[in-house]
Amino acid sequence: MEDRKSWNIKDEAILDDLVNLMDVTAEEKNALATVKEQAQALAPELVDAFYKRILAHPNTAEYVAGMVDHLRNTLQDWFVQLFSGEYGPEYVQSRLAIGKTHVRIGLPVRYPLAMMDVLIEYGEKVAVHSPQPDLATTAFRKLAALDIAIFNQAYENTQLQHLAEMVGNERLARRLLTQ
Ligand code: HEM
Repeated sequence: MEDRKSWNIKDEAILDDLVNLMDVTAEEKNALATVKEQAQALAPELVDAFYKRILAHPNTAEYVAGMVDHLRNTLQDWFVQLFSGEYGPEYVQSRLAIGKTHVRIGLPVRYPLAMMDVLIEYGEKVAVHSPQPDLATTAFRKLAALDIAIFNQAYENTQLQHLAEMVGNERLARRLLTQ
C-alpha cells in the first residue's frame, strides 16, 4: 500500500484538516449561536440522561464513582460550547484535550462514542428552536461528527505514538496498524 497524504498531517494540522473537511459555513455557525440559551436551559436534563445511563451500567459506572457532581458541570459546559458559534483551533484543541483525559483514565473509546447518542438527541432538541431549524440541525450534526472524530483522534494519537516509539518510526507503526 502506498503512503497516504493524511499520514503527514500532524498536531495542529489535524485540527485544520478536520475543520476544512466539515466545512462549517458562517450561516451554520450563526444558526447554532442563536440557540445557545436553549442549550443552557436544556443542559441539566441532558446531563441527567447522560449519567443515568452511565450509572446504570457497572462497566461505565466504576469510572465516575464519587465524581458525578463535578462531571455534571464539565459536561454542561461542553454541551453549551457546542452552541458557541466559534469553532476555531482553540475549540478543537480543547475538545482534543478532553478526549485525551478519557484516554488517560483507561476508558475504552467505545463508551464515549456510544454516549454521543445522548448528546445528539439533546442537541437536535435544541436546534429545532432556531428560526432556521433545518440549518441549525445540519450544523449541529456537523459539530457532533467533529466531536466523534476528535474523540477518536485523541485515542489514535496515543496508540500511534506508543507504537512508533516501540518500533522506531511512525511510518512502520502506521503500516502495522493497517494489518
Ligand atoms: C460523549 C461522551 C463524553 C463527553 C462529551 C465527556 C465530557 C467530559 C468532560 C468535558 C470532562 C472534563 C475534562 C477535563 O476536566 O479536562 C470529562 C471528564 C471525565 N469523564 Fe467524560 N465525557 C464523555 C464520556 C465519558 C464516559 C462514557 C465516561 C465513563 C464511563 C466518562 C468519564 C469521565 C471521567 C472519569 C472524567 C474525569 C477524568 C479526570 O479528570 O481524571 N466520560 N468528560
